[in-house]
Amino acid sequence: MVVVGSANVDLFAAVPAIPAPGETVLARGREVRAGGKGLNQAVAAARAGAATTFVAVVGRDEGAEMLLAEAAAAGVDTGLVRRADGPTGTAWIMVRPDGENAIVVDGAANATLTSLTLTERTAVSEAAVVVAQLETPLSAVREAAEAAQASGARFLLNAAPASELPEELLRCVDVLVVNEHEARHLSGEADPSSAARTLLRLAGAVVVTLGAEGALLLDADGERRVPGLTARVVDTTGAGDTFTGVLAATLATDPDLDAAARRAVVAGALAVETAGAVPSIPTSDAIAARLRQEASR
Ligand code: RIB
Ligand code: NA
Repeated sequence: MVVVGSANVDLFAAVPAIPAPGETVLARGREVRAGGKGLNQAVAAARAGAATTFVAVVGRDEGAEMLLAEAAAAGVDTGLVRRADGPTGTAWIMVRPDGENAIVVDGAANATLTSLTLTERTAVSEAAVVVAQLETPLSAVREAAEAAQASGARFLLNAAPASELPEELLRCVDVLVVNEHEARHLSGEADPSSAARTLLRLAGAVVVTLGAEGALLLDADGERRVPGLTARVVDTTGAGDTFTGVLAATLATDPDLDAAARRAVVAGALAVETAGAVPSIPTSDAIAARLRQEASR
């Protein structure tokens, strides 16, 4: 599969509370880790067992080296990752003791991923599953969607962070993955079921992630719920990306959306139990062990 998207250096501050405007809080710790929605999803897919190529742009700095090394160590093919002058994408992430966060992203090099090269388009056309998010310019996301549609690849869009989306793009989406906030933003409907029904008019299938409550699936077969798991929440950063990457990786070998969503929910729950994005993304063995554990409860 191919993941088209962002790569960020995540600068974490552990904070007692997210500061209000005008307020200053003292961090209790800091960490620098690999992240970015695209990179996280590529790592999640590779760790889940899919042969994964990452299409992205990083800068020419130390951060870029760290990101490429982390992705490659997870088994991601980084051979197509391009370089731009200037800094690599950066995310400033504050994490509260209960694991909730607030994030500011400076796209930097990611902002130059405005269109796909011929080689990148070919990689997309040869993939079984193509995944994109909205942390890179919409123009290249659209190119990826159109190339995937033309070649018969399954196109998954994780519409995060919440943004406006042209209808033509949504029509190319085979599986739309959104959280409750993004579902509301795109559909204007507060209730996840209603939002999913509205979005299904354009997308082939809609998956709404519900945090601890699991996920809601809607396609031509109707609505299903995948129950959540009890997790010991440390840091929710990267949990949604883990869900999307594992969902896509699973769909690459088996089109059963329900089975893929079950595996993705388990992977997402595992991701909230460890700090950071990339460090918290589980392997297929860890997912399988937790699935067995849940089945025997
Ligand atoms: O979805 C989590 C990611 O969002 C983080 O890794 C951070 O880079 C931000 O882009
Ligand atoms: Na995490």
